[in-house]
Amino acid sequence: MARNTMTPTVIPEAPGASNPSDAILQVRGLRKWFDVGGRFLGIGQRSWLKAIDDVNFDVRESQTFGLVGESGCGKTTTLKVILGLEEPTEGNIYWQGEDVADMTRAGRREFRRSVQAVFQDPWSSLNPRMRVQAIVGEPLEIATTMSRQEIRDRVGDLLVEVGLNPYQMNLYPHEFSGGQRQRIGIARALALNPKLICLDEPVSALDVSIRAQIMNLLVDLQNEHGLAYLLVAHNLATVRYMCHEMAVMYLGVVQEMGDTEAIFNNPLHLYTNALISAALPSHPDITRDEIILPGEVVSPIDPPPGDVFMTRTPIEVDHSNEWAQVRPPLVEKEPNHWVVDTPWSLATDEALRASIYDEEAEIRKSEEERRRLAAEN
Ligand SMILES: Nc1ncnc2c1ncn2[C@@H]1O[C@H](COP(=O)(O)OP(=O)(O)OP(=O)(O)O)[C@@H](O)[C@H]1O
Ligand SMILES: [Mg+2]
Repeated sequence: MARNTMTPTVIPEAPGASNPSDAILQVRGLRKWFDVGGRFLGIGQRSWLKAIDDVNFDVRESQTFGLVGESGCGKTTTLKVILGLEEPTEGNIYWQGEDVADMTRAGRREFRRSVQAVFQDPWSSLNPRMRVQAIVGEPLEIATTMSRQEIRDRVGDLLVEVGLNPYQMNLYPHEFSGGQRQRIGIARALALNPKLICLDEPVSALDVSIRAQIMNLLVDLQNEHGLAYLLVAHNLATVRYMCHEMAVMYLGVVQEMGDTEAIFNNPLHLYTNALISAALPSHPDITRDEIILPGEVVSPIDPPPGDVFMTRTPIEVDHSNEWAQVRPPLVEKEPNHWVVDTPWSLATDEALRASIYDEEAEIRKSEEERRRLAAEN
């Protein structure tokens, strides 16, 4: 790939990210802050919505890296910055060892071909006025010199690859089911032989019965083409099934990260425990205590310094502690298993006991409250 300079790029080590030799995409110190005003006639303090704040991770060749967390924690923003749809406020993205910001035009064009995306909603992500042939063939028309017939043949092959029939290239998106449309989106993403596909909730808009089919298709395509995926998902079962490594995000900050099985087998952060407990148990006979974190997700606008998780822990926070003032780093607790380690963030027995949702106690409390209000009136 063409480079501007002769000196090799040095990619900084970062907590949670280990510069493995098979890394294809590396994200370092990535921040995306949105200016949400707060100033009047240029006077006063600016307000920043910190959608992502110092995110670091590596996506390895032919593997899947997952991003999970509640709505609004910055997952889509991370993908958008990587895809070049949003400018980063700070930080670097390295593609195959090269800083994307330093690439030549040709290098950047190659990067855009190599990194494709599939979005959540197969109903709005396909142009309703275009036939499938034009939708799937569009990237080939734009980025290659292939002839009309060559594109037609390639589109036919791509449709077969994603489990559709070549004759369907003459149809419009509304003539397909949700699952089939997502297959069309995947065929389009595959057209230019990418190395990485960013998947933003690729199955969450689909019927449960169809989700497994699409996930299996994605896994088959990964194995066949050696594709890497960066997968955003709410659903922890999807993440566990598809991801080799993962990061759990809260309010724009990674809280726990590393090998997927290590995290599911031994979730260290209280927040990860709460996410796992909120997911359906994998077996109806397995009962699990439900963990409910106190407080509410605080606004990502001008978050206070220190650990963003402070307001959600059942453990009393000592505000003179360093991590109440300064953003704590990820710490490696076991091989490739990193977590934010503060006196209030880890899922200790005490913290878990304090977070277990006690239904009877809640009912008693609301009953007492009701009686108190009745007595008052
Ligand atoms: N263009 C924008 N201007 C201002 N704020 C934005 C913009 N885009 C996103 N945000 C804010 O950034 C934060 C992160 O949004 P993002 O879409 O990345 O969340 P998400 O994790 O993908 O959530 P979801 O699971 O609901 O898709 C949110 O608070 C959102 O409101
Ligand atoms: Mg999103």
